[in-house]
Amino acid sequence: MAKINLKNLKVEAKKGIEKADNLKDLDEIFRKYLGKKGKITLIFNSLKKLPLNKRKKLGREANLVKIGLEKLIREKTQKFKEEIRAESLGKEKIDITRPGKKVKIGHLHPLTLVQREVEEIFQSMGFSVITGPEVETEWYNFDALNIPKDHPARDMWDTFWLKVEADQRARLPSPESKASGGQGYQRGLTQKFLLRTHTSPVQIRYMEKHQPPLRIIVPGRCFRHEATDASHEIQFYQLEGLVVDKNISAANFRAIIEEFLKRFLKTDIEIRLRPSFFPFTEPSFEIDVRRKKGKWVEMMGAGMVHPNVFKAAGLIPNAPAGGWQGFAFGAGLDRLAMLKYKINDIRLFYSGDLRFLKQF
Ligand code: PHE
Repeated sequence: MAKINLKNLKVEAKKGIEKADNLKDLDEIFRKYLGKKGKITLIFNSLKKLPLNKRKKLGREANLVKIGLEKLIREKTQKFKEEIRAESLGKEKIDITRPGKKVKIGHLHPLTLVQREVEEIFQSMGFSVITGPEVETEWYNFDALNIPKDHPARDMWDTFWLKVEADQRARLPSPESKASGGQGYQRGLTQKFLLRTHTSPVQIRYMEKHQPPLRIIVPGRCFRHEATDASHEIQFYQLEGLVVDKNISAANFRAIIEEFLKRFLKTDIEIRLRPSFFPFTEPSFEIDVRRKKGKWVEMMGAGMVHPNVFKAAGLIPNAPAGGWQGFAFGAGLDRLAMLKYKINDIRLFYSGDLRFLKQF
């Protein structure tokens, strides 16, 4: 009885294994026959009730069936596992020929790009790039540039004056120069500080320390206490230029500026010089630029360095008599950027608006 039962169980279990479609089916079959309460396990449990000879025989046979079924289940389990693995590998396959995902990184501000390009062009023409302080003294920003106190010309530059407490004053670098001392400025307490209204003070600072011939540009931030509109900001960037030698003329200036603008704007442009006034240049002019048939845009102030400026910096003016002469210009870097990229509002540069900035 038990023997027939065992044979049937074997056939039945084998069929079940053959039909099994997945790991779960196999698991069920294992439990049904070989688990704790499995049909074959029960046969083992019933052995102790049998006489010794039958027990031995049935025991051996049941064990063979058990081993056989276990092997079948193990093999099929293995097969399913391999199939699953192969399938997921197929899905997860890495296609190394696919283009990568672009990593988003930041980029430079348009004004920085413009500043760097401008520097490169001037450097290729033999200019050095110089910087100066944004917090200036009244002397460098005005007096040394031939703009005396109480002179109406000062009104050209609406100024942010700085209140400097006595203890802060002690920590500031000395505002004094040889020349400023000579002009009656006392060290320390009487010196007035301001946010520079233009980059021209660096002309003085540089000439104090360097003997001509010299050729420099000075990019930098400037501040003016005035209402903002599409072409004026309280902070903006200027590009100062200064060339000093024995034989420097306005024609040299015109040639250099025209060459610079052509390279910078990468297109044919026209420039025109209009007579103007700056206390630190004589004669002075205003330079306008336009693309072919475009609108004239006011781009910079310029002129021949005024003798008083040379004197304030400790240099001897008047080249024909053995001294120095030169030209200076001050261009709006923002304006250059606006002209190049056809931007109509200077305030966009300082807005932090990513929709604007992402275009560069
Ligand atoms: N510093 C002048 C300004 O800010 C520009 C300028 C510079 C003019 C050098 C002449 C020479 O308006």
